[in-house]
Amino acid sequence: MSVELAPSILSADFARLADALATIERGGADVVHVDVMDGHFVPNLTIGPPVVAALRKATKLPLDCHLMVEDADRWIGEFLAAGAARITVHVEACPHLHRTVHAIKAGGAAAAVALNPATPLETLGEILPDLDMVLIMSVNPGFGGQSFIPAAVDKVERLARLAAARGARPLIQVDGGVGTGNAARLVRAGAGSLVAGNAVFGAPDPADAVRALRRAAEGGA
Ligand code: DX5
Ligand code: ZN
Repeated sequence: MSVELAPSILSADFARLADALATIERGGADVVHVDVMDGHFVPNLTIGPPVVAALRKATKLPLDCHLMVEDADRWIGEFLAAGAARITVHVEACPHLHRTVHAIKAGGAAAAVALNPATPLETLGEILPDLDMVLIMSVNPGFGGQSFIPAAVDKVERLARLAAARGARPLIQVDGGVGTGNAARLVRAGAGSLVAGNAVFGAPDPADAVRALRRAAEGGA
């Protein structure tokens, strides 16, 4: 079974992003995970639409934009224009989630919703059939390099069952503390996309780290 690998450039050298993109392309990454933080929804500030537009010109890989922002509706148009292929918003930050998801789709991108570790799956019940992907956070969002919260494995399994019961088949992405040690377990639980920041860019050879993650993820599938 093939698993989507999404290295997070949050852990890359921000002064050398083009090199980081070339390295993960060489390692066989499928998409680039871009962590957008606004200093309000999460206690960190990172990347905005102008940087996404620059990344778009520097790689052929699709850009998977994870918006950890308070007012997602305000920014969707700009991320679409910047070239995002997929936009993930947080259920905790979107009071009009149906409108938000459909605005993403109407703009031609894939639509995904993320859940923080303490957010129940049931918050997605009504919107699941409309989603291209669900992101299960396996750390509290805000920073790279945090420890994996093991309860995420069971949450992925329950999400796969909930989606099947609703007749939906969203891709399930896991983000936070993912590496070779837990990739197989997550894929067995139903994950089809793995985000990895520190496990890729904290390694001596990030291209090799992507290959190792693929062996770990697909060996367990
Ligand atoms: C956390 C971000 C993650 C982060 C993952 O708020 O959403 O995408 O970059 O980094 P690692 O893999 O280092 O936990
Ligand atoms: Zn992320």
